[in-house]
Amino acid sequence: MVSSASPSSEIVGLGSYVPQKVMTNQELESIMDTTDEWIRTRTGISERRVADVTEGTSDLAVAACRDALQDAGLRAKDLDLMIVATCTPDYFMPGLGVLIQNKLGCRPIPAIDLRGQCSGFAWALSTADAYSKMADYQYILVVGSDLQTRILDYSLDGRNSAVLFGDGAGACVLKVKKTLGESQPSGLLDHILGSDGSGFSHLMVPRPGCQANNSSFISHNDIDSKKTAPYMDGRQVFKYASYYMEKTVTELMARNKLSIDDIDLIIPHQANLRLSKILKTKLGIPPEKMVSVIEKFGNTTSASLPLCFVEARQSGKLKKGSLIITTTFGSGFTWGGNLIRW
Ligand code: UT7
Repeated sequence: MVSSASPSSEIVGLGSYVPQKVMTNQELESIMDTTDEWIRTRTGISERRVADVTEGTSDLAVAACRDALQDAGLRAKDLDLMIVATCTPDYFMPGLGVLIQNKLGCRPIPAIDLRGQCSGFAWALSTADAYSKMADYQYILVVGSDLQTRILDYSLDGRNSAVLFGDGAGACVLKVKKTLGESQPSGLLDHILGSDGSGFSHLMVPRPGCQANNSSFISHNDIDSKKTAPYMDGRQVFKYASYYMEKTVTELMARNKLSIDDIDLIIPHQANLRLSKILKTKLGIPPEKMVSVIEKFGNTTSASLPLCFVEARQSGKLKKGSLIITTTFGSGFTWGGNLIRW
């Protein structure tokens, strides 16, 4: 039984967008020192999508938002609030949300940017849920969009990250519910969020930025020395990701008095297929209760969860009434998860 307080928002629209261009592992083999065999064995990834030069992060987001609005049977003008998760915005300033708000043709609603990196979408869902309890909003758009391939380092130094990431976007329309006290609560039921900034240097993009002891926002040396690309200590990140992704699921189940048998779907952030397999083994999750899109999209950062929602719905795994748990981990370190009755 779900014992948390009655939810006040539910997902009524779901959308996604991935760029058309597919980059296979074989194509990566031809431009950098890697192999299809290494990538598939270590990560489970076969291919990923790469944005066209005419597309920016906001364009990926807008396409996903339109898809979600259509799914909900709503227009952009119906939206009251937008929460946007990204770590690869079009501009350092202003944020991504205002660009999406303008391109979609929304009213002058608040468009709030949120930085949770790979945990961004889980954090954005929980933030939207919190807003739904405290303000007079009816429809809230939650967006995750990232365009990582433009910042990757395809040389030997960056190969552990370059093979992982892909571009994509996803969005959910939330409807704030007025009816409380249902016998079987539906919608967003519970959330766990966490961070540990002592791990920040294990997965980061060092430059540009406004850190101490750097007199410029960016320098030629930063570019030449590839400091504008993600740096990752993969083994450290893997260790923490494995621990916190499992902890998030077990805590969400424990405090809602649920077991794996009660859960219809576990949706893990798509960082590495090995991470999902460890989670599956440790928690005894039957394969049909797991969702995976990493094989075809790689790690799409804040788009990872909604792309899984879409996949699960298309494959018939996600149905009205399904009880799902999401679990994420990302740069920061950040982690989080959501308990949702669809
Ligand atoms: O989304 C946010 C959270 N992100 C994650 O959770 C990612 C977590 N980390 C990982 O998924 C894995 O650590 C990686 C996939 C990034 C790397 O896999 P690994 O098994 O931890 O490999 P490693 O970094 O320990 O490297 C093993 C070997 C090294 O060679 P030596 O020193 O053993 O000779 C690397 O240089 O693999 C080499 N290597 C590669 N070889 C071919 C690293 N990247 C590549 C590559 N192709 N792309």
